[in-house]
Amino acid sequence: MVERVMYDNAVSYVHNVLGAVLREGDVAVDATIGNGWDTALMADLVGAGGIVYGFDIQPVALEVTRSRISGCLATVDLHLQGHEHMARAVDGMHHGHVRAITFNLGYLPGGDKDVTTIAETTEGGLQQAMEILAPDGVITIVCYRHAEGMRELETVRRVLSGLDQNRYTCIEVDFINQKGTPPIVFVVTSKPPEPTSVRIG
Ligand SMILES: C[S@@+](CC[C@H](N)C(=O)[O-])C[C@H]1O[C@@H](n2cnc3c(N)ncnc32)[C@H](O)[C@@H]1O
Repeated sequence: MVERVMYDNAVSYVHNVLGAVLREGDVAVDATIGNGWDTALMADLVGAGGIVYGFDIQPVALEVTRSRISGCLATVDLHLQGHEHMARAVDGMHHGHVRAITFNLGYLPGGDKDVTTIAETTEGGLQQAMEILAPDGVITIVCYRHAEGMRELETVRRVLSGLDQNRYTCIEVDFINQKGTPPIVFVVTSKPPEPTSVRIG
């Protein structure tokens, strides 16, 4: 029987994408670790031989995430640093080999709502993510629709809609029958370059 995949909300949609993309031994990045749920999922997916880099600007996010991943076999390298600096923090040997990068924007659930991701640094984070992504890698972004979130959403949409369609496929997913203003998911899939044909003779 074919397994039924549920896309109940933005987070489960992203988790399905990560589950489809990440394999044992992969390198992954959680650009906004928050309460560590996405980091823990990525760590489970990449397993003992894999590595997950995580970024957040709040010490509490690193503390909560450290305890959440305590039993994980993967190497988890957490940074108290904005994702706009991720390329410098990720080991050069992993540049071009990062299979999945996830951004869950906004503020820390249960934390200080004034500490939130902002459009300018999110744009910087996206640019850095593109620099280190594998040629067949995926970036997911969950955007919320509070005031700063709307600015971010427009920024993310502008950046992604400008990407070369020969190199990337970018989609935007909206949960159109959910009440209120559910978050929007963007997914960027990088396409490996076509092998160049060689003319003989
Ligand atoms: C919605 S939460 C992330 C939820 C998280 N992925 C989880 O699984 O629980 C957003 C997080 O982004 C963090 N943040 C804000 N600005 C940031 C930046 N420039 N770089 C990295 N993280 C940032 C916030 O501190 C907050 O913890």
